[in-house]
This record gives sequence, C-alpha cells and structure tokens, in this order.
Amino acid sequence: MAVHVVDHPLVHDALAVLRDARTGPDGFRRAAARISVLLAAEAMRDVPTTPGTVETPLASAPARRLAGDLVVVPVLRAGLGMLDAVLALAPAARVGHIGLQRDELTAVASKYYARLPDGLASSYVVVVDPMLATGGSAVTALDLLRAAGAARVRIVCIVAAPEGIALVERRHPDAVIYTPAVDERLDARKFIVPGLGDFGDRLYGTV
Ligand code: PRP
Ligand code: URA
Repeated sequence: MAVHVVDHPLVHDALAVLRDARTGPDGFRRAAARISVLLAAEAMRDVPTTPGTVETPLASAPARRLAGDLVVVPVLRAGLGMLDAVLALAPAARVGHIGLQRDELTAVASKYYARLPDGLASSYVVVVDPMLATGGSAVTALDLLRAAGAARVRIVCIVAAPEGIALVERRHPDAVIYTPAVDERLDARKFIVPGLGDFGDRLYGTV
C-alpha cells in the first residue's frame, strides 16, 4: 500500500490552524477547506484527461479535460467538512455518503448510513475522512466500497496515526492514503496524539 505524505507550505499552514486548540469553528472550517483542496488535488493527480482544443479570444489552444469518472465519498460527519472543497475542484464528481460513528468507549465504528453511486468499477473514488486513528472507520468504508465494486480507491485524511495506516495496509493493501501528517500514536481513548482533537466536534462546535 502507498502512503503519500503531502508536503507543501500551504498544507502545513492550514494544518497548524487546525491543530491550534484556540481555533474556533469558523477558522477551523476555513482551514479544513483550504487543506482539503490541496490534498484532493494531490490525490487526483492520476485521473486521466482527454486532449482537445479550446477557442481563446485569439486562437485555438490545446486543452485537456477530465476524462475519468470521479466519485467523492465523505465519511460522515467529519468528512463533510472536506466535501465542498473537493467538489470545487471537481464540480462534475458524483458523491456517495457513508455514515460511521465511533463508540465513545470502545472506539469501534459502526455504520448508520450508506448511499453510494452505481457503477464504481472504473471510477476514481476519493474517500474524505479527516482522521485516520485506529483505522476502523477507514476499513469499514473501504469494505463497503469494495462490496459496491470500487477498484481504484484513495483515502484523503488530514492527520493519520501509525496504527490506522497499519490496519488499512493489512486489510486493504491496494488502497492509497494521502495525508500531510503521520502523528506519534493513539492515546487510551484512541485519539491521535498530538492530533487536533475531535475533528467533528471542532468543525460543528459540539465540543
Ligand atoms: C472520527 C473521524 C473518523 C474516525 C476515525 O469520526 O472523523 O471517521 O473518527 O477514527 P478511527 O480511525 O479510529 O475509526 P467519529 O466516529 O468521531 O464521528 P463524527 O465524524 O461523526 O464526529
Ligand atoms: N477522531 C477524531 O476526530 N480525532 C481523533 O483523534 C481520533 C478520531
């Protein structure tokens, strides 16, 4: 399995805002959108294009347009904080939703919703879920996508833990992870350390 660590000054700047405990929901949302655009652009680097031409006000110019079927899958609820930014880059993308919730005591994720587009076999599927902690949520999302026929799946997350990467690697070795940060470890509550806290709570002000 490939882990792409995205190293870019603009990514690091947005990540610093997200990690900062003093950042409120408004700043958190803006930083989440900023970083998501940059990460998603990297995750879509291999999407094919078809060559053609376009008429500028002066002449014909060579042009390349997206040719692959793009499908974005936010993992609810925190992944919704990344969705609009990804759709700004790929407005024609189809969208699937997967709702997963970690149990507060066991940290085991359970599914409460799933609605995926048809015909995923040749699609370029981009799962957006900001936190890869134990990896349980990512593996569940990947299981659902594989069962629906998806073959080319990449996961975009904002902070990953070594434990989560290892689990995804074991269970879905062909998935590709894009992240700017592989943090130290999980704590006793299975939160990423240093991490940024509970992404969904900070995004929606439910802390
Ligand atoms: C968070 C996060 C991931 C998951 C990661 O979601 O958004 O989906 O935890 O943890 P894992 O790798 O250990 O599974 P959470 O279940 O807290 O739900 P929320 O997005 O609704 O806040
Ligand atoms: N989910 C979060 O939002 N944060 C973590 O650190 C782990 C799981």
